Amino acid sequence: MAERQQWGSRIGFLLAAIGSAVGLGNIWRFSYMAYENGGGAFLIPYIIAFVLAGVPLMILEYALGHREKASPPLAFARIKPLWESLGWWMPVVTFFGINLFYTVIVGWCMNYFVFSFDLSWGNQTEQFFQDEFLQISKGPFDIGNIVLPILAGTAFTWLLCWIICFRKISSGIEKASMIFMPILFLLTLVLVAWSVQLEGAWEAIKKHYLSFDFSKIDVGTASGRKVWVDAFGQIFFSLGLGFGVIATYSSYLPRKTNIISGALTICSVNCLYSFIAGFAVFGTIGYMSSVNGIPFEEAIKGGTGLAFVVYPEAINQLPAFNKLFGAVFFLILIVAGLSSAISLTETLTCSISDKFKVNRGRITTLFCVVGFLGSLIFTTQGGIMILDIVDHFIGNYALIIGGIAECLLVGWFLTSIKMRRHIDEVGTQKLLPIWDIAIRYITPSILFIILGVGLFNEIKAPYEGYEMKALIIIGVGALLLTYTLAFILSRFSWKNYSRSVNDQQ
Ligand code: PHE
Repeated sequence: MAERQQWGSRIGFLLAAIGSAVGLGNIWRFSYMAYENGGGAFLIPYIIAFVLAGVPLMILEYALGHREKASPPLAFARIKPLWESLGWWMPVVTFFGINLFYTVIVGWCMNYFVFSFDLSWGNQTEQFFQDEFLQISKGPFDIGNIVLPILAGTAFTWLLCWIICFRKISSGIEKASMIFMPILFLLTLVLVAWSVQLEGAWEAIKKHYLSFDFSKIDVGTASGRKVWVDAFGQIFFSLGLGFGVIATYSSYLPRKTNIISGALTICSVNCLYSFIAGFAVFGTIGYMSSVNGIPFEEAIKGGTGLAFVVYPEAINQLPAFNKLFGAVFFLILIVAGLSSAISLTETLTCSISDKFKVNRGRITTLFCVVGFLGSLIFTTQGGIMILDIVDHFIGNYALIIGGIAECLLVGWFLTSIKMRRHIDEVGTQKLLPIWDIAIRYITPSILFIILGVGLFNEIKAPYEGYEMKALIIIGVGALLLTYTLAFILSRFSWKNYSRSVNDQQ
């Protein structure tokens, strides 16, 4: 069997892994979640989720890919052959359930980057976004036509993804990350410094971001419980856990490597990035609310509205260099999004080439074309609604199930003792004994609770007021479809099966 590719350097791997984790979600999703869930008080469940689920699972996923030198399907097939389909579900969900729409959002950002040069969104930014840019149709089943500028942005995103992934690990993904990440960090610092000194920015940051409203995180109330579910969901999505991405990336590491410090670095840089980016978001919105004399609560919007409606409006009103500010903001989103989209693509192509012994270049080309064609549905006039539903179901359920599967696989079937032995053996750091307890008992139990509470809320009130029919057909449909595909892939026989070196010893 051909030698597995390797990262050229540890820093290259770390930057690629951080590039995967830091994405669109760190910028708009985190800030909005923090605002909606009690400002600074949100940081408490967030940090607890970080410690109880984020770090143990990051170590686990990282170690799994490294020990097996394999993508998730191969790792699952070795440890528990019957669960191979679950191992496939991760890359399939990652690619078909997330990447197809993620690349479309990066495509939107590309359009908005161009728009910022002449502020073409005008004064009615909401109307511009919904009616002129997305040309939203009446409902998710009324898909209408493909919107050409979105199609162009999406095609360009896939093209970049293809160019980078085609060049493989060390000269493709690693090189791109070595360029992207410093640019991303630098631009973000510029944006933060710029935003916090705007009029009214600090007051808003202090009042809405760094203040604590503890009543909002009280688990005795239904809304308090939702905050906890949101915090765990955010940690999962943001660190990219349960997607199999980090396992794929760590499978390209050399044998000697410090898994613990690597995992801690990725987790901390990612969450710190969110926290710092929050200053830019709160500062800019604070400025806008202060110059317009409208309450902050009315100025802020969640999800896509934050980046594509509120930000353009704030950019219009800046005292100077508005266009440059806009270009910097959307460039940050493009770079952050693209480096995540690359990892979402690589996870599937790596899994396929692990199993089918096919030429990697051809597989990359094939899947970038298939991915682009699949993205077309999200470039239509109904696209944003389909995107919203798919994102909700995949983000809240598939990932958590993936996380639970990994905990059970490693904690109970492989056994956490074997994994700990591996981690201790290949690195110079020793894992705390609490990790075994965490991944065998604590993390999976919490994930089960989160899953249960989420499902309960789902039945109680349909998500975002969509029709139940749409939620079931699109949301549950996406879950079933991705699992069916994963199951089919798991039924083919292995062309490239090899036992783990660790088990041969
Ligand atoms: N973490 C990314 C974000 O916050 C999304 C992502 C998930 C990327 C999983 C890669 C893997 O936007």
